[in-house]
Amino acid sequence: MAAPAAQKSYKAQRTHGTQPFHAAQRVEAAEPVPAVVTGSQLIYFSSASENTSRFVSKLGCEAARIPLLPKDAPLLATRPFVLVVPTYGGTGGEGSVPKQVIRFLNNPQNRQLIRGVIGAGNTNFGDNYCMAGDIIAAKCGIPHLYRFELMGTPEDVTRVNQGLDTFWTRLSQTQK
Ligand SMILES: Cc1cc2nc3c(=O)[nH]c(=O)nc-3n(C[C@H](O)[C@H](O)[C@H](O)COP(=O)(O)O)c2cc1C
Repeated sequence: MAAPAAQKSYKAQRTHGTQPFHAAQRVEAAEPVPAVVTGSQLIYFSSASENTSRFVSKLGCEAARIPLLPKDAPLLATRPFVLVVPTYGGTGGEGSVPKQVIRFLNNPQNRQLIRGVIGAGNTNFGDNYCMAGDIIAAKCGIPHLYRFELMGTPEDVTRVNQGLDTFWTRLSQTQK
């Protein structure tokens, strides 16, 4: 399915939550490249350091990756999904949500299908630990389901796998 030639801002198109992204986080880019369509229920972003990618591989389930480069084809979700997102923050949490993730959420279809977020980060960042997950949860009106550090521990893997099973089961019972 081709993406629209141009996307309005997250602020203009959001359907969940009440708070727009900070102006500096908005992405107004046109998306000329046809989208890659995914029915995966787990979608993640990971930068070149690939910590989040390693964590997601350990979950052993199908997952789709948000592209790293602006020239890459954008990702378009077709089913409800949980987003796994690392934080890349500045002072006071500004810029915490990677711009690639903002671009992804600026697509109204993606934003409508997000059901939960899992935050990745590093506790060395103190109060800003996994801040991107907090921001997305607040703005999209969805739960911040879990937080893990770097590439996660074996316990994180077990807890996320069990938690996602429970989450999707409950959701299928309540959203018919
Ligand atoms: C420049 C920079 C800023 C970061 N800011 C935060 C932060 O504000 N909060 C946090 O929890 N982690 C922060 N981190 C840690 C990353 O979220 C963490 O390393 C994560 O595992 C990166 O995932 P990735 O390798 O999949 O991109 C930062 C890392 C870098 C390099």
